[in-house]
Amino acid sequence: MDGIVQKAFEQAFPGEDFSFVRVLPATDAKFGDFQCNDALKLAKRLKLPPRAIAEKVAALLPIQAEVAGPGFLNLTVTPEWLGSRLAALESDANLGIARQGEGKTVVIDYSSPNAAKQMHIGHIRSTVIGSAIDRIFRALGYRVVADNHLGDWGTQFGILIKGYRECLTDEERENLSVANLEKCYVLSAARAKESEEWKSSCREELVRLQQGDAANMELWKRFIDISIGEFERMYRKLGVKFDTYRGESYYNAIMPGVVDRLIELGLAKESEGALIVDLNDEGLGVAIVRKSDGGYNYTTSDLACVKSRVEEYAPERIIYVTDDRQQLHFRQFFDIAAKMGYTGVKLVHVPFGLMSYQGKAISTREGNLIKLDDLLSEAVRRCLATLEERGNASEKLAEEIGYGAVKYADLSHDPATAIDFNWDKALALDGNSGPYLQYAYARVCSLLEKAETLDESAGFAVESPFEKQLALQLLKFPSAVVRAAEVYKPSVLADFLYQTCQLYSSFYQNSPILKSEAQVRNARLRLCRLFGRVLCKGLDLLGIAAPSHI
Ligand code: ARG
Repeated sequence: MDGIVQKAFEQAFPGEDFSFVRVLPATDAKFGDFQCNDALKLAKRLKLPPRAIAEKVAALLPIQAEVAGPGFLNLTVTPEWLGSRLAALESDANLGIARQGEGKTVVIDYSSPNAAKQMHIGHIRSTVIGSAIDRIFRALGYRVVADNHLGDWGTQFGILIKGYRECLTDEERENLSVANLEKCYVLSAARAKESEEWKSSCREELVRLQQGDAANMELWKRFIDISIGEFERMYRKLGVKFDTYRGESYYNAIMPGVVDRLIELGLAKESEGALIVDLNDEGLGVAIVRKSDGGYNYTTSDLACVKSRVEEYAPERIIYVTDDRQQLHFRQFFDIAAKMGYTGVKLVHVPFGLMSYQGKAISTREGNLIKLDDLLSEAVRRCLATLEERGNASEKLAEEIGYGAVKYADLSHDPATAIDFNWDKALALDGNSGPYLQYAYARVCSLLEKAETLDESAGFAVESPFEKQLALQLLKFPSAVVRAAEVYKPSVLADFLYQTCQLYSSFYQNSPILKSEAQVRNARLRLCRLFGRVLCKGLDLLGIAAPSHI
C-alpha cells in the first residue's frame, strides 16, 4: 500500500523523493480502510496547501481516495481492485517478490564453527539465521555466495596433533570422528596443563604445521575433512548448503601482505612488540594485527578475508552472522577495512543474542552443552511420538516437523534478543510455532484436495471483512520479504506468516467455503490456495519444510 501511494505522489510531483510516505490503517472504519497523513508534512517542501497536495494525489490513485480535514487522505479499497491485485500476485512465479538484487553479489558468512569440535546447540543460531538470510537474498535475485568461515587454524592444532599421536588408541585413530578429536583435544590439553614438556611438544607440533611439515599437514587436512563431513551431516538435516568452506587457514598467505599495507598506509604501529591499529579516536580501542610472537590474529584474518572476497566476487555486501559478543571485533575490523579503502563493499554484522536451553544457560562447565545432533534427534523423537498417537508414524514427517520446530523457535525471535529454547513452546500446536504454521499449510492443502474442482475463470471476490483482511495481508507478502532482508531479520517474515495464519484462521472459521454456492465457493477457494502458496513460499524462505499431509 505504501508503494501505491508513493507512486501517486511521484506522478503528482515528479522529481521529488516520497520514499518516506506511509499508509496507516484507518483509525475508524467509517473513513475507509487506510489513511495517509503525509500531505501535511509536504506543504512546506512543495509550497502548496496540504489539501491541494492531497487532492492532486487522490485523483491519481488507483483506489478510492477522499480528502478530509486539513489534508488527510482516506483510502478505501474496492473488491475489484483487491481481486486484480490478488490475481497479479497469484500469477507471479516469485509471488510478487521483486528481483531487486539482480546483477548483485552478496557473500554471507555464517555457521562457521570451529573444526575438530562437535556442533552444539549454541551453533544453531548462526546456522539457521544465516541460512534464512541466504534464502531471502536469493529470492530477491541476488547472487549469494554462502561461505562457511571455519575456524580451522590456530594453537588448538598443536594440541590436537600431539593428542592424536599419543592419547588415542589405534582403533580410534583409524575410525577418527569429531567425537574422537574432541576427546583427544581434552586429554592433550589437560596433559599440557600439567606438564611443561607436553606443552612445549604441542607447540613444536604447531610450529611444524605452520612450516608446512608434510606429516602434520596431512593430519591437519584429515581433521578438517572429518570435521566438514560431520558438519555436513548436520547441514543436511537442517537443509543448509554452502557454496564454499573457506576456513581461516585459507587466508594465511594473504595476511603478511595485509599487514604490510597497514604499515604502508600508516594505520598500524608497533606497541610493546606487537603491531596495533589504534582506534581510540573512534571509541573502538586498539586492535592487534600482529602479536608480539609474530603470529596474526582474528582481525588480521578477517581483513585478509575481505580483500580476498572483494577481489574474487566483487560483492555489493558481505554479511556476517555471529553472536553479539563479537560486536567489537566487527566494528574494529570494518573500520580498518574502510580505512584501507574497501569502501565499495557494504560490511554488515548481524549479531544475535545467546540461547539458553529450557531456562538454563548453556555452559561447558555445567555439562549441559547439548550436542546439536542430540537436539535434532530429540526433536524427531518427540514428533514421532505425537504422530504415532495420531496413527501417522512417518520418520520423514517427524524430521520435517521436528527440524522445522527447532528452526522456527529461533527464527521467530528478533536475532538481536537472547532466546530460550523450550520444547513445549517449540512444538506447541496452538501458538507461534513451526508446527502451528505447518499444520495450517497441511489443512489448506487438504481443503483444496477435498474441493477437487476450482473454476479458474471465477476470479477473486473479496466481500466480507474477513476476506478483505486476509487479502490485504497476502498482498503485503512481497514487502515483508524485502523488509526482512533490509533489516537482516528473518523474524520479520516469521511474524508476517504467523499473522497471516491467524487471519486465515478467522476467515476460515467465519466463512463457509465448500458449502457455499459456486461463485463464492470458487472465490474463497482461490483465496485459500493463494494463502497456501504464500505460506509455503514463506516457510521455504525460512528453510522450513511445508508437508502437504500431516
Ligand atoms: N569461527 C568463529 C566462531 O566460532 C566465527 C567466524 C565468523 N566469521 C568471520 N569471518 N569472523 O565464533
